[in-house]
Amino acid sequence: MTKWSPNSWRGMPIQQVPAFPDAAALAETEARLATFPPLVFAGEARKLKKQLAAVANGEAFLLQGGDCAESFAEHGADNIRDFFRVFLQMSVVLTFAGSQPVVKVGRIAGQFAKPRSSDNETKGDVTLPSYRGDIINGIDFDEKSRVPDPARQEMAYRQSAATLNLLRAFAQGGYASLENVHKWMLGFVSNSPQGERYEVLANRITETMDFMRAVGITSEHNYALRETDFYTSHEALLLGYEEALTRVDSTSGDWYATSGHMIWIGDRTRQPDHAHIEYCRGIKNPLGLKCGPSLSPDGLLQLIDLLNPENEPGRLTLIARFGSDKVADHLPKLIRAVQKEGRKVVWSCDPMHGNTITAAGYKTRPFDRIMSEVKSFFEIHRAEGSHPGGVHVEMTGKNVTECTGGARAIRDEELQDRYHTHCDPRLNADQAIDLAFLVSDLLKKSVPAQDKKTADAA
Ligand code: PEP
Ligand code: CO
Repeated sequence: MTKWSPNSWRGMPIQQVPAFPDAAALAETEARLATFPPLVFAGEARKLKKQLAAVANGEAFLLQGGDCAESFAEHGADNIRDFFRVFLQMSVVLTFAGSQPVVKVGRIAGQFAKPRSSDNETKGDVTLPSYRGDIINGIDFDEKSRVPDPARQEMAYRQSAATLNLLRAFAQGGYASLENVHKWMLGFVSNSPQGERYEVLANRITETMDFMRAVGITSEHNYALRETDFYTSHEALLLGYEEALTRVDSTSGDWYATSGHMIWIGDRTRQPDHAHIEYCRGIKNPLGLKCGPSLSPDGLLQLIDLLNPENEPGRLTLIARFGSDKVADHLPKLIRAVQKEGRKVVWSCDPMHGNTITAAGYKTRPFDRIMSEVKSFFEIHRAEGSHPGGVHVEMTGKNVTECTGGARAIRDEELQDRYHTHCDPRLNADQAIDLAFLVSDLLKKSVPAQDKKTADAA
């Protein structure tokens, strides 16, 4: 194997490369980005890896979620706050049910680049380059907007910095305090069945907090009640951008991606001898690897050898995204291969990307299929004796109509009402909380017997 460096990927075959018309302008942008401050620190990535190691050991659960694609147009504080509060609600539901720590990782503050199934998009008799995410080109279907523009990388960097700044303030500045457990509820969720179920749980937490305060345990003195650890993640697709933000950690001398705490490799860019795997193998952050139907057990083991040769728990999260009708065919043999070789990984379930269909002219995902894949994921892990370690979802805090079904039974005809996503259909706040309750029920069934009594009571 060749020696790794932050740019060793450049000599390799590569998928999903945008056709930048001006190579010199691209190189200039990358050189400038390389002089900008890191967005995250190596020590934070190490802390996340440690928490993910607990997930790999069956002692914690990973909640990863956020936009399919962040956009420049939707960069308001409300948007970030509404996402964060729904995410906190989901995490409280999961913590209470599983009696386990929930590791919180957003698809946010850097999730801008999208892989596409086709290089071009045709409408009527016009064919233009496909939209590849706001970090590359614009979503408007006109020639000018679809030309890849390197200047967008600086905008994405600055938006990521501002988003991360607000998230850090929310996570550490009191908003995430368990004393606010009622305040996270969004108006439109509160009068739904999930809203009511959440309220019951929030009341129990408040009761517990009151009791603890009475015996002298208060949020002023307890960091864990007042603050939370929240991490960022995105797909490491645009490697020039990633390379520019790859830095040596001065304490360890290791290389880290500083564009986000965790990065993942998409299902379309995981060829073992290609550029994306090459880049990712050399950085020390926790990595995700999307595992879709075309991945064989041997192919997976080969990738694990490349990405986690030292078998370090927490380094690698395998994100299974097969589809509700395919998961039973594919997942068991991958789990068996990993177990047979004694590889330490986190298994997470992405019930979104294998369940996309078209209805009424929209790309959508039926909520039942999403739920069904999650259920199968848990059942398969139970049968194989491995830990169903997490879920990876596309979601928003907004009241959108992008996935059909759920408690409010969104119909195909209603998709047009509030269909705002720049890429794939996301769960709205209702559906996201609904999913958290489903997962919490599944988690309760899979906790070890001695912990069961507390979990059942939830
Ligand atoms: C995604 O997570 O948005 C994505 C494109 O997923 P996948 O690589 O699994 O298709
Ligand atoms: Co997506």
